[in-house]
Parts: sequence; structure tokens; C-alpha cells
Amino acid sequence: GMRVPLIAANWKMNKTIPEAVVLAQDICNNLDRFDTSDFELVVFAPALDIKPVKTVFEFEKMPIELGAQNFYYEQSGAFTGEISPAMIQSAGCSWALVGHSERRELFGETNDIVHRKVLAALEHQLNVMLCVGESAYVRDSHEELSFVEQQLKAAFAQVDASCACHCAVAYEPLWAIGTGVSAPPESAERMGAHIRSVLLDIFGMKDGEQPRILYGGSVTPGSVANLMNMPHIDGVLVGKASLEARSFVPLVQAAV
Ligand code: G3H
Repeated sequence: GMRVPLIAANWKMNKTIPEAVVLAQDICNNLDRFDTSDFELVVFAPALDIKPVKTVFEFEKMPIELGAQNFYYEQSGAFTGEISPAMIQSAGCSWALVGHSERRELFGETNDIVHRKVLAALEHQLNVMLCVGESAYVRDSHEELSFVEQQLKAAFAQVDASCACHCAVAYEPLWAIGTGVSAPPESAERMGAHIRSVLLDIFGMKDGEQPRILYGGSVTPGSVANLMNMPHIDGVLVGKASLEARSFVPLVQAAV
């Protein structure tokens, strides 16, 4: 298709620096070097791991990109404990994850905060992976399409259509994250098609085709192929199965 498949790992709050370096090295040792026109690979590592992991990938000449799991939307200043878009970029990131459900649920990130972060990341030439997705409650009320539509419209408000190529959307239904059971490919596809129609609405007919749409939530080496075969799913965002090379490498191989 027109979009290069994108496989993203989210290590969440796992891996000390030595553990992260071992995992990065393991991935390099077990994954054949690949052509980035066939697919794209991004690792969202904990902030402290970004630089050391980037160093391993560069040394091994592996074209794996780095992303930050979080950052603050201000440029600099008296924001003790926060890291800025410029800082994550200077550590080697080309991507920023925004609006993961764990940040929304556990750390109070509202649609407004998510929106500010999207704008800040794009301003600093970072690619944005925006996470959206509904809870089981919203799904059971049959309101998941409008819920996700609201998340998308809030996050991408005031984003110029020329930035659409620097955006990706990960659909992660909360009821599938960390459960061991991914969503049925058909429900991922149904939401993928809806997300595409909203993106076309937001960015226009040409630019709205640019963002890749990923599925996330208990993706495994066994479930990845059927999800990626769906016409409106361009990639996956992988949590648990990305924490060891012996599950992540087979997952990548099954995906492409
Ligand atoms: O960002 C990743 C998702 O939250 C999925 O995590 O693969 O462990 O379910 P999981």
C-alpha cells in the first residue's frame, strides 16, 4: 500500500539501563537487517534508556528509531521533574508517544493536555504517535466510535494538514491492553476505518491518508499477522511482547 507498515514497541516502565542495553543488543543479534522501505520499527523506551539504546542500534547499524513515552509541553523552565521535547530530541528520539491510556488513566492526562503535547512535539520536529481507545464501559454503551472521534478531534485541533505525515494513531482499546487477548481483527478494522474517515475529515482528502493507523493491546507473535492484514491497520503497538527479544523478534517476523 501507500503507507509503510510501522511496528512500535512500548517498553513502559521496564528495563534499567543495563537491561535495556542487553535487550537492544539481543534484538540486533536476532533480527536480520531490514529495508526501511519495507517497514519501520520504533522503540518507545523509558527516558533514561533512550540514549544508551540508540547507541546500540547505531553501533549495530540497525535502522530502529527511538521514541519517548512521555514529555512536558513547555519549552523549558521551572517544571521540576519534567523533560522537554527538545531534550528527548537531543537524546536521539524521532518519535513521541502521546496520550497513552495509562497516562490518561493513572496520571490525569486530559484531552487538553494531550492536545498541547501533540502541538509541542510537532513544533520540535518529532513524529507523534497519538494513542486513542475506549474503555469496556464505553464499548458496552456502543459509544466507542464517537468517543474515539472526540479524542482525535481534540488532539489534532489546530494541527496543520502539512504535519499529518508526521502523525500516527494507535488504537488501543483499554479492554484489550495487558489482558493477553488482543481485540478481534474485525473490531480493530472497524475502528481503523472510522479513524481513517475522521483523519480525512480533519486533514483533508490528501493529507488525511498520510497517518498510519496502528492497533495495540496484547499483540503477540500469534495474533499480529491477522491484525496487520486488515486493510485499515498499518501497524501495531506492542507492550508486553516487546520486552524480550525471543517474543519481539518472532512478532516482527510474523508481521512483515
Ligand atoms: O502501548 C502498548 C499497549 O498498551 C499494549 O500493551 O501489548 O502489553 O497489551 P500490551
